[in-house]
Amino acid sequence: MRIKTVPTVPFRDQRPGTSGLRKKTREFMQPNYLENFVQSVFNAIRALQNRDREGALPQSASPADFDNTTLVVGGDGRYYNRPAIQAIIRIAAGNGFARVLVARGGILSTPAMSAVIRRRKALGGLVLSASHNPGGPDEDFGIKYNMQNGGPAPEQVTERIFRETLKIDRYCSLDSPDVDIDRDGSLKIAGTEVAIFDPLADYSALMEELFDFEALRAHFRNGFRMLFDAMHGATGPYARHIFEERLGAPPGTVLHGDPLEDFGGHHPDPNLAYAADLVRLLADGNAPDFGAACDADGDRNMILGRTVFVSPGDSLAVIAEHAAHAIPGYRGGLSGVARSLPTSTAVDRVARAAGINSFETPTGWKYFGALLDAGLCTLCGEESFGTGSNHIREKDGIWAVLCWLSLLAVSKKSVAEVLHDHWRKFGRSYFQRHDYDKLVAKSAAAMMQDLEAQMPGMPGRSLGNFVVSSAEDVSYRDPVTGAETEHAGIRIVFSNDSRIVFRLSGTGTEGATLRLYLERYERENTDADVETVLAPLAEIARELLGLQQRFGREKPTVIT
Ligand code: G1P
Ligand code: ZN
Repeated sequence: MRIKTVPTVPFRDQRPGTSGLRKKTREFMQPNYLENFVQSVFNAIRALQNRDREGALPQSASPADFDNTTLVVGGDGRYYNRPAIQAIIRIAAGNGFARVLVARGGILSTPAMSAVIRRRKALGGLVLSASHNPGGPDEDFGIKYNMQNGGPAPEQVTERIFRETLKIDRYCSLDSPDVDIDRDGSLKIAGTEVAIFDPLADYSALMEELFDFEALRAHFRNGFRMLFDAMHGATGPYARHIFEERLGAPPGTVLHGDPLEDFGGHHPDPNLAYAADLVRLLADGNAPDFGAACDADGDRNMILGRTVFVSPGDSLAVIAEHAAHAIPGYRGGLSGVARSLPTSTAVDRVARAAGINSFETPTGWKYFGALLDAGLCTLCGEESFGTGSNHIREKDGIWAVLCWLSLLAVSKKSVAEVLHDHWRKFGRSYFQRHDYDKLVAKSAAAMMQDLEAQMPGMPGRSLGNFVVSSAEDVSYRDPVTGAETEHAGIRIVFSNDSRIVFRLSGTGTEGATLRLYLERYERENTDADVETVLAPLAEIARELLGLQQRFGREKPTVIT
């Protein structure tokens, strides 16, 4: 089979965002759109490996740089997953990879991708997902490159990829028939071995190393019940295998467990608004006391008790509080913790009590990679329903559920009791995120600029009943690599430890999305209504932005 060089012209909009390249599916379906991006990833990797020979494709289209290397490919099963995988196989073979590992059925959760790259010592992997965004021809698609450490490419690499997309003039591919990706096995295409592998094996083995499966099995044997909502994304097969087959949870524990290309027409996003079925089922008097859900690619999670919602910041703090005694994989204690800037400060208080460091990073999992690689932190999390640890380099939904299962099994308490115990000990960070979707991008950018201009005069000012103690446009210097990131978000801290963080989303595919993150800390008053407690902060934020005047928006599109 001959490798062919296909001429192409750049698309000018292929800059990866917070988490890879996300676009409407139809944009990805344009001729050469996906091919250009994949070739640009390979060009960037090749260039960086060769310490920068400008990443150009060698004239003879048989580059040798990848001849010892393995690429992993899989996705969350959304519409266009399969054609995209076939295209990637051809381009990877055209670029001379020694091996391409393709998840059977094309389904590989993001955390499993990270585990597979690490365990099989691959060069990297391509994840096909738009995470929690809806799927279908008129919805969203995405692609993200993960590096040798199993984590998303850091900004220097994604910017390099972007530069390659602007100058690409050809890509390497093959005229080969589609590979049957539904059966395990391997075949050779040109010089490349294409192997179809079991997407559940490495991930389940890793979970079994971290958690006490025997104790969890006993917990289910003793009558413990839970509900897990896979939202028709990639976690269905993992959850059935781990919770039902391995741990003995009764059949029916996993809801919406079959991956569907359109996720059943829903947003595969685990929050109170979109996991409505789960929330309704748990409200039933006979329902289990523990419920959880994951997003389409399995990196996000939501934790619920029958009567309580565990906010992601609290979930991270509670796991940090209990990991060392409830989970074998963390018995040695934690080296440190990390959270993104907008995430509530709850975990900082646990870290302080334990005498370990707590890091504050910009939004996006990629910023945790360097800290984890350097052994500076063990657990990390984001307010956007992301929790994870040093076991891989992605956030991990099923792992978070296993953490909660473990601490419920050890403590023999309900979710609500565990949470209230935590608040009693550390106080409570009331937290909400308010999203305003589909704003005109230019006006949203102008609004943020105007807000930024107000920051220097803020400290000392009274806003409502709150006094500003600091106000800034936050920038971050990675303590390990020294890399600088600017405009991570605008943060106003008040004298009573309350905070507002403002930023624009980096994952949206339509207009701009404004995110307002509200946090109010209370040492004693831990049982109040979240909305009521945070209402004054929401008002301050809206006023400062002039939201009503600029966009006429009365209220947020989504509150999480
Ligand atoms: C959002 C979340 C962020 C998360 C990312 C990828 O990014 O806020 O925490 O890492 O999705 O799942 P944003 O749209 O805010 O840039
Ligand atoms: Zn996701």
